[in-house]
Amino acid sequence: MHEHVESILYSEEQLRQRVKELGAQITADYAGKEPVLASVLRGSYIFMADLTRAIDLPVTVDFMAVSSYGTGTKSSGQVEIKKDLSDSIEGRDLIIVEDILDSGNTLYYLMEILKARKPASIRICTLMDKPERRTQPIVADYVGFTIPDAFVVGYGLDYSEKYRNLPYVGILKPSVYGGE
Ligand code: IMP
Ligand code: MG
Repeated sequence: MHEHVESILYSEEQLRQRVKELGAQITADYAGKEPVLASVLRGSYIFMADLTRAIDLPVTVDFMAVSSYGTGTKSSGQVEIKKDLSDSIEGRDLIIVEDILDSGNTLYYLMEILKARKPASIRICTLMDKPERRTQPIVADYVGFTIPDAFVVGYGLDYSEKYRNLPYVGILKPSVYGGE
């Protein structure tokens, strides 16, 4: 285990199993359709790669990036598109793929922007959900894990751009980000 990690929340095996289940659920729910999966970079890149391979449908993929926490651990409340989707989503069944749903700010603003582009449907698939911290009325349609209020890293998730490459999800030691 990495020395900055307090404990492992989800092991590689647990992640693999849960992502397989989410993929199977999406495959069943979207039978006969060709959804577009839109990954919110950068945190969701590993989840996206595994999730798409667990879906047995003619899916397409796209990517976007929005302003993030920067180097802190709290959401700023303002969301800015840094990189937009490459293709039109008009008339498409859109699944937004997120790493973690926290205050809900990011998805609240993103949903408004994407709805205006008139997709046939929009759903949210998030690997993790921290409902305790929600300040916006956002509910994900697919949730990998509901987690307590702790700052987690690994499997794509960062703190100050580090730890994304850890193969598990771990709770970061508060001393690393100046907590107690
Ligand atoms: P929200 O806008 O507060 O819902 O925050 C969503 C974004 O904040 C996520 O997509 C993550 O990039 C980041 N984030 C929130 N909680 C964590 C965490 O525990 N670890 C790493 N990133 C996080
Ligand atoms: Mg992040």
